Amino acid sequence: MEIIIQPNKEAVTSLASRIIVDRLITKPNLVLGCATGRTMNMVYESLIALAKEQALSFSEVCTFNLDEYVGLDAKHPQSYAFYMQEKLFSRTDILAEHTQLLNGTASNLKGECDTYETKITDYGGIDVQLLGIGQSGHIGFNEPLSSLGSRTREKALTETTRLQNQAFFETLDAVPKRALTMGVGTILESKEILLLATGKHKAEIISKAAEGPITGMISATSLQFHRSCKIIVDEDAASELREKEYYRWVFDNEPEWEKFR
Ligand code: F6R
Repeated sequence: MEIIIQPNKEAVTSLASRIIVDRLITKPNLVLGCATGRTMNMVYESLIALAKEQALSFSEVCTFNLDEYVGLDAKHPQSYAFYMQEKLFSRTDILAEHTQLLNGTASNLKGECDTYETKITDYGGIDVQLLGIGQSGHIGFNEPLSSLGSRTREKALTETTRLQNQAFFETLDAVPKRALTMGVGTILESKEILLLATGKHKAEIISKAAEGPITGMISATSLQFHRSCKIIVDEDAASELREKEYYRWVFDNEPEWEKFR
């Protein structure tokens, strides 16, 4: 795991999108794992701008979304399918048949999740997985006590997560209580992971996730097992990290990062 501290959220999103573009140039048929939420808004914005600037095509790119609310269909403005359409898909030349999303209204939710797992394998696995982190420490919707080996499945959402996402709905009651999510084990099989976090409200959970003990209570701690996970944070989200100076030194000196500094 590496932690990269950037001065502000604009720099966080710019770095993340530059890394994705770099991987896309190397592999035009990149399999990109997508997250949604506030943190990702600017990432897609910046990725689209950068791809345009460099005349890059998404026509061979495939995407797999991390999660979806149970009960919301793709036309619901708060569904993640709708979010992806608005923020990324409709603004690039990505082919609809290359965009994979969990269907939260499927009649057989378990079958839906199992098929998703098979599809990920059929596509050769996820090359780069984007992640945000919830206040509860979740990645995807892997709420506390999620098995660190879990696969794509249905999960009940915690009150913390529902409160975190309440702003997008009219009332707390309207926030779905369940979701489909890639499992922790599924996420850990991605070849590279970029977790992004910005703002003071993420500082405590970022320090627990990166520097705390590995626990099923905080699914993001499982990322410590991953061999190519980068946590990109702004100064606010980094404010409670113990080894900040070491992380800065690594980013400033490792040859791997030269073209991104
Ligand atoms: C969304 C997802 C969640 C969010 C997390 C952070 O697809 O999987 O894990 O990434 O809840 O959300 P924001 O960025 O809104 O703070």
